[in-house]
Amino acid sequence: MAACVQEQQANTLETLRELADLVIPFALRAACDMGIADHLIAGPLHVEKLAGKVGADPSSLWRLLRALASRGIFAEDQHGIFALSPVAELLCGDHPLSLRDGLALIGPDLAAWAYVDYSIRTGQSAFDYIHGQSYYDKLARDEDFRELFDRSVETQNRIMLRPLLAAYDWSGCGTIVDLAGGTGVFLAGLLARYPQLRGVLFDLPHVVSRAPPVLEAAGVTERCAIEPGNLFDAVPTGRDTYLLKTVLHDWPDARARRILDVVAEAMRTDSRVIVIEALLPSGDAFHIGKLLDMNSLVLAAGPDRDESHLLALLSSAGLEHRRVVRTATLAILEAASARRTSHVDQVSKQSQALLEALLDRATLAATLHPRLRREGNTRIQPSLAPHVPGLRPIGRRSQIREEAGALAIRAGVA
Ligand SMILES: C[S@@+](CC[C@H](N)C(=O)[O-])C[C@H]1O[C@@H](n2cnc3c(N)ncnc32)[C@H](O)[C@@H]1O
Repeated sequence: MAACVQEQQANTLETLRELADLVIPFALRAACDMGIADHLIAGPLHVEKLAGKVGADPSSLWRLLRALASRGIFAEDQHGIFALSPVAELLCGDHPLSLRDGLALIGPDLAAWAYVDYSIRTGQSAFDYIHGQSYYDKLARDEDFRELFDRSVETQNRIMLRPLLAAYDWSGCGTIVDLAGGTGVFLAGLLARYPQLRGVLFDLPHVVSRAPPVLEAAGVTERCAIEPGNLFDAVPTGRDTYLLKTVLHDWPDARARRILDVVAEAMRTDSRVIVIEALLPSGDAFHIGKLLDMNSLVLAAGPDRDESHLLALLSSAGLEHRRVVRTATLAILEAASARRTSHVDQVSKQSQALLEALLDRATLAATLHPRLRREGNTRIQPSLAPHVPGLRPIGRRSQIREEAGALAIRAGVA
């Protein structure tokens, strides 16, 4: 009996050591950074040759690959000759589910993780503490960091696109505003799959400036507008669907609430908001979100939330949830405005009335005024258009239409 308990404890100890191991995660990332798997696509290679191709010390590369092969990542065919294993195939750049760029060693992240205890003691971001600036401020200033981040986000989106498209019927979403949508990888994939949808990509100016090639590659440029802006100030108004995909978990409750307030203010009463986040299960069950949540804490001091926490946050911003659809990793939450009339609806009504009045006046003027008739009904009297700010007193009807249209666009109804 005692021997049995001791054996169990020895096994547990082994499991614990494996869980606490740093070697495999770092070795795996180094192999990805060097593109080892890509060099083995054509067939097994001797480590000497492989080292020449990737610019490594042969003996050290052999030690790296031997360690990884002992865990099933790569296979050592014969002494010193390495091949792809089924796991290593997922590290090839051209695999549809490739994780190669999703495991890049991002220096600033690693430096922050070395201070995880700071976050645990204070509840603050170790990243901000170490780098003296927030994650997104550093991304704005450090081009190498930003490039690795973009590649990692692109990888995550490529992997997540299929389950997220399969889990939810996006066909009735009209125009989707992807808030903090990065360089548009997810939105581009969504629009490519649903030709009837239109999109608006919204993110910080230096981020959306890198979106055009992404939209172009997906063939959706014509259906996708790009709007730079700050989530905490204002977002495009009066659209059908607002998407917040893995955005709220970057922010503590007060900041997340501010984002939701800005979105709720921009929505029409019949708009919907779709929030995509990991929803953490209670209890000890494993969920990848519980690990992502640690990343959110260390890098940004934001939490990944459980369902009731997220719903309470939505409700505090006047958003009532309609349904939750879960996938293996992320969940899709749909919510609508709880208000009967929204600010945008009011502005929209006023603006439409204004537009109608304006065109009526132009028509009336063109019909009644003798000189207008002579000039082919193209001009209106100064006295007939004094009510609209910014409208010049005499203008062509097309100009009046344009200005009225501009007003409507400013008010978010066109
Ligand atoms: C975790 S990424 C998520 C990107 C995208 N939604 C996705 O799921 O791939 C967070 C995004 O928030 C953007 N962001 C951060 N602060 C922002 C702000 N104040 N206004 C607008 N976007 C912001 C970042 O540029 C980044 O693209």
